[in-house]
Amino acid sequence: MIADIVVGLSFGDEGKGKVTHQLLKSGKYTHCLRYNGSNNAGHTIYHKGEKFVLHSIPMGVFFGVKSIIGAGCVVNLEQFFSEIEMLEEGGIPTEGLVCIANSAHVITDEHLEEDGKEFSIGTTKKGNGPAYRDKYARTGTRAEAVEALNDYTVDLYKELHSASPTVVLLEGAQGFGLDIDWGDYPYVTSSHCTSAGALLNGIPPFSVRKVYGVAKAYETYVGAKKFEPDSPIFQKLRDVGNEYGATTGRPRQCNWTNLSLLEKAAKINGITDLIINKVDVMREVGEWNLRFDDSMITRLQEEEAWKNYIRYFFNKKIRNLTIYFSETPERI
Ligand code: IMP
Ligand code: MG
Repeated sequence: MIADIVVGLSFGDEGKGKVTHQLLKSGKYTHCLRYNGSNNAGHTIYHKGEKFVLHSIPMGVFFGVKSIIGAGCVVNLEQFFSEIEMLEEGGIPTEGLVCIANSAHVITDEHLEEDGKEFSIGTTKKGNGPAYRDKYARTGTRAEAVEALNDYTVDLYKELHSASPTVVLLEGAQGFGLDIDWGDYPYVTSSHCTSAGALLNGIPPFSVRKVYGVAKAYETYVGAKKFEPDSPIFQKLRDVGNEYGATTGRPRQCNWTNLSLLEKAAKINGITDLIINKVDVMREVGEWNLRFDDSMITRLQEEEAWKNYIRYFFNKKIRNLTIYFSETPERI
């Protein structure tokens, strides 16, 4: 098996979908697996000129690649079937391509109702937290126990460790700053967003080839804690970057990139490649700032100085890291 991982380095919404989409275009993958989260995530993609929003089904399906909702995920059945329908109606075949790991858990109406009354963390209200709680309390329901999912459930061992070699693209949801263990608890999601979470889906560590860490040129966060400093510049970032949630429509709070946090996320995830998206948004806003944990802000004069600062910073910290600055919504 060969495995590549796409992981979020910030608070979700870094543009992982774009990176996944571009990697899949290479045609070298046999499987695409979503390794954590649920329909709390939202991926908007333009495929052959048509707009699709996916919340739970991995993007491999657009390329005829077997697409698995992994063991680390929780699934809303209604959402799952409506995505299947939406894809079929959009001319994307799903039969035999979309599957769910036997041991993925199910989000129930009770989970949804409970999460709907949640305000202190600012969840997406999709029942994600309660479903994971019940999984770990051993009172939840696995996908394999649901009759309606009979045609979709798979054994990850059989699927990924079969005789023919598999090349798996592992697609993460959310990001390091929302990780259950590494994020700013309790302002986190309930799953393992790091590359370690990808391995929990039956991936042997030695099979990992590339870890693509995805960040934005600035940071955004959606949830109950205060994240955005008081300055009109961040409203400008929000508007230029269209930083409004794909799942809930909520405005995302903005701030400059915290390089200390990015370094930590890069090291803990063991990234081989760093993709920094939305440089075009920074250009339009016209300020080139970075910050550090101790809230010191470094103001760079212009784009190239800002990029060089980041390159120099990571060159000193991580060996052989390839850095991409992306300035279009379509590609890296
Ligand atoms: P939950 O995952 O719905 O329980 O929400 C927990 C926290 O994670 C909240 O701050 C959400 O806004 C945030 N969150 C969950 N999924 C995403 C995502 O896909 N993008 C950005 N934030 C997310
Ligand atoms: Mg998103």
